Amino acid sequence: MKRRTFLLAVTALFGGSALAKDMGMSGMNMTGMKMGGGKRITELPVGQSLPELVRLSNSSKQAGVFEAILEAGPTQVEFVKGIKTEVLTYNGTVPGQMIEVMEGDKFKVTFRNKIAGQDSTIHWHGLEVPPDQDGNPTHPVMSGQERVYEFEIPQGSAGSYWYHPHPHGHTAEQSYRGLAGAFIVRAKSDPLPKEFGDITLLISSISLNTDGSIAENTMTDVMNGREGDHVLVNGAKQPVLTLAPGTSRRFRLYNATNGRFLKLSFENHFMTLVGTDGGLIAAPVAGLKELLLAPAERAEVVVDFQKTPGAVKLVSLSHERGWMGPNKPANSTLTVMSMNLTGPAMASTPLPTKLRDITDLGAPTATKQIELSETMGMANGMMNMGFLIDGKRFDINRVDQHSKLGEVELWENKNTSGMDHPFHIHGGQFQIVERELGGRKNPPVFIGWKDTVNIANNEIIRVKMRQSFAGSRMYHCHILEHEDAGMMGTLQVS
Ligand code: C2O
Ligand code: CU
Ligand code: CU
Repeated sequence: MKRRTFLLAVTALFGGSALAKDMGMSGMNMTGMKMGGGKRITELPVGQSLPELVRLSNSSKQAGVFEAILEAGPTQVEFVKGIKTEVLTYNGTVPGQMIEVMEGDKFKVTFRNKIAGQDSTIHWHGLEVPPDQDGNPTHPVMSGQERVYEFEIPQGSAGSYWYHPHPHGHTAEQSYRGLAGAFIVRAKSDPLPKEFGDITLLISSISLNTDGSIAENTMTDVMNGREGDHVLVNGAKQPVLTLAPGTSRRFRLYNATNGRFLKLSFENHFMTLVGTDGGLIAAPVAGLKELLLAPAERAEVVVDFQKTPGAVKLVSLSHERGWMGPNKPANSTLTVMSMNLTGPAMASTPLPTKLRDITDLGAPTATKQIELSETMGMANGMMNMGFLIDGKRFDINRVDQHSKLGEVELWENKNTSGMDHPFHIHGGQFQIVERELGGRKNPPVFIGWKDTVNIANNEIIRVKMRQSFAGSRMYHCHILEHEDAGMMGTLQVS
């Protein structure tokens, strides 16, 4: 069935916000799910000063060792004064506490799962971690249980990573309830001037029912990925950062939403890209008006603010992502946060022209072809919709791809569905070779490391990667609703 015809049928059946009957949608449990959702809190307080992320404290006295406890469980917070919201947190904060380690550190975290009735894991997104320490769905920690994650932070891996749950079938839900945190690896020396500072902006989103509870996913969320009604930066809506005019600032931008595309832009200012998912790029890329961050992507940018006092907004512009079904958001510019420039102007500090050496992985000796697709149809009044990799839904007991330890591979990832999907592989970082759309091939504008890359409808993206640990791990779409619906595969490395 054609996508459009199918969607018209879906809309007719769900009737805007009517309750769905048992639709028997394979691959997803949509029983009782609403199309557009119920009554929501539409306003949250804005304008508080930008919260600084709380750091996870290191309980080890030994040099080069980082040890801590991360406990996932319910916590009550107030997004609106007097209205309680039960969220899921790591150690009591939304977002989770920020982990900060040095390259070469021995990392040891005890994870306690205090989430009622659900397995969980902690996945160390983007880091080169042995599979059995990486919180894959194949290694669940049951409710009430705990385990230790232990690994070494590789040399040369300084960058902006993050951590989030990855249990089978509940990744999206646990994430939208609040579980996600930044994980920053620092190098002994950093080429960026100290004067630039270093501010982490973890962007997430939240949808609240009028009673303060977190809204369940609707059909719209399941199809498109949950965008969330309110966009938060470090847990606050439209916070304000006060800076002196003329300041140059380094920002680590995180898209930690389940399914919202952020096309970020600092009004009337250019960004200089200095880092991607896996750390600094080889040389700065100046003059960017906007930067698309798909779910799970990160970027480091430097912004030279104007010399005159005033307000500068960080906004998210609309992005044509191939919306599925009704409730398509209007094309509008969303304010993410603002900078308040006040006081005497600062003198500007120049950026170095070179940031670090990045060695090309070299010629690949194996090739994989991956296809991301969607399927939809109706038979006997039953809807069938799915998000697939190579025509299949995820099966935890099936191996989909094999790789040889240490071999450089070319992954040719093709998106034949009607929407954008951010493609992610566990186990480390890849290098983008080229993007191909409509027969035109383009190399990336930077030389650097990535673990997640957005693939537009009909686009092919070629990346090179090398796996450094044996075992099995995942590759998937990082719209977490799609991942839970089965847009994921297992890679066996031996
Ligand atoms: Cu960010 Cu498989 O994960
Ligand atoms: Cu990951
Ligand atoms: Cu997807």
